[in-house]
Amino acid sequence: MVFKEEIIKRRTFGIISHPDAGKTTLTEKLLLFGGAIQEAGAVKSHKIKKSATSDFMEIERQRGISVSTSVLAFNYKEKKINILDTPGHKDFAEDTFRTLTAVDSVIVVIDVAKGVEEQTEKLVEVCRMREIPIIVFINKLDREGKDAFDLLDELESKLKFTVCPLSFPIGIGYDFQGIYNLWQNNLMLFKEENKQKISDTINIKSLDDIRLIDFIGENASLKLKEEIDIVKEVYPNFNQNDYLSCKQQPVFFGSALNNFGVKELLDCFISIAPPPLAKESTERMIKPDENKFSGFIFKIHANMDPKHRDRLAFIKIVSGIFKRNKPYNHVRLNKKFKFSSPNAFFAEKKEIIDQSYPGDIVGVHDSGNFKIGDSFSEGERINFKGIPNFSPEHFKFINNQDPMKSKQLAKGIDQLMDEGVAQLFIMEINGRKVIGTVGALQFEVIQYRLEHEYGAKCSYENINIYKACWTENYQKNENEFREFKKLKSKFLAKDKAGNLVFLSDSAFSLEMTKQKFPSIKFHYKSEF
Ligand code: G4P
Repeated sequence: MVFKEEIIKRRTFGIISHPDAGKTTLTEKLLLFGGAIQEAGAVKSHKIKKSATSDFMEIERQRGISVSTSVLAFNYKEKKINILDTPGHKDFAEDTFRTLTAVDSVIVVIDVAKGVEEQTEKLVEVCRMREIPIIVFINKLDREGKDAFDLLDELESKLKFTVCPLSFPIGIGYDFQGIYNLWQNNLMLFKEENKQKISDTINIKSLDDIRLIDFIGENASLKLKEEIDIVKEVYPNFNQNDYLSCKQQPVFFGSALNNFGVKELLDCFISIAPPPLAKESTERMIKPDENKFSGFIFKIHANMDPKHRDRLAFIKIVSGIFKRNKPYNHVRLNKKFKFSSPNAFFAEKKEIIDQSYPGDIVGVHDSGNFKIGDSFSEGERINFKGIPNFSPEHFKFINNQDPMKSKQLAKGIDQLMDEGVAQLFIMEINGRKVIGTVGALQFEVIQYRLEHEYGAKCSYENINIYKACWTENYQKNENEFREFKKLKSKFLAKDKAGNLVFLSDSAFSLEMTKQKFPSIKFHYKSEF
């Protein structure tokens, strides 16, 4: 019974946004409400400033910070909240995609002036693929921005959401007066002098309350009534099942910087967001309340000390109770591991724990054995699904610059790939190594880390690749597959798991190849 209660009180989620929409600020304000930090500014912005593409100090700083802010846990109204941090910088998008395999729900932050941006679209696409329930927070209402209805339209057209506004702004920017909360049927007035402080909400029971005019003036109260009528007419009523099955996305408005609308978001979140969910493995569905422990690695973090190659692997617990010093089976290696000092993460610190429950994240020491996607169990063969590689955006040949250090280079590349820094493809025709990354920044990170952590020097050489496509001979047409392999041998490579990948050099050539070989499917991700 106690075990089940531990499960249902957990909420493990991620906050995603286009950089600068206010993810860090919102995270910080949630921690303030949870009492996990005492003052604003305690959570360091975990993003690389756009100008810092060559600034290795900045890269190192980012790596340092991301350990301490990888998981931010706190208790709020008897719920245990785990926020999984996602890097904002687009060059680290793949890190975010993988973190999304470990969350049970997501809050999307949208900048009121910018609306739906490119990175938001990409991240929401991944959430859709994973069927992750989403709540939207439209931020920066204290600034001039788009009209609330236009923003709701944009969420519907660009993100294909069925929106359900649970709060609605009264004015915007200079005229911003507050928010009407449809979830709790009350009104919160915005007092600028309360900036950076947690203030009480001014409550009114309904829009017919005669005090409304006193609070916001006659014009604004008439406009608000009209707008709320439209909201009630046009948008569906909130339905928790629809939200949980991704058929409906509740929307909140507010200003994270001003602490406005954040508590309302959090209160609604803890009452509607899902507790840890069952997860699909290749073998079967694994339910959180099963007695036996299972979990998977979704992130590996290298040690900051270049002299020690120890790493911290982050395990999401899917079922059972994780216990310190108990041997668990590492499914891929079919080998037992026990962890004497597993870490749990809290807002500002990490701590060794004796046990953890489904929904929680534990950080375990790894001396180079683990890779992202690895599963642990109490013996059963379980391989959790949903940690695919996506086609990288940038590709380069990697060359060894120091023949005496080829072993170190190979090991370094191998371990960095296991960490998920980038992807390695080995050309079928000549065995040359191609590194594929989501952003240009990773090439510098890899070069720097190979040199400083492995003592190996590398150089890069340009290669013209448009996309990496994982091939599937889905009609089992062996003749056609053989013909494809012969004709396209120059463009074929194996990924680290040994899968055959077609590295097409242009959108046109990919299209032509698809037409010529209709029995082969070309996937932009490794899991299909
Ligand atoms: P990110 O993690 O999504 O990249 O965004 P972050 O929270 O760092 O916020 C980006 C910028 O937007 C920050 O300003 C932050 O202060 C500001 N911001 C966040 N929420 C609000 C809001 O509700 N209203 C207003 N007006 N601004 C908001 P910055 O100048 O880039 O950084 P900083 O110097 O303030 O740290």
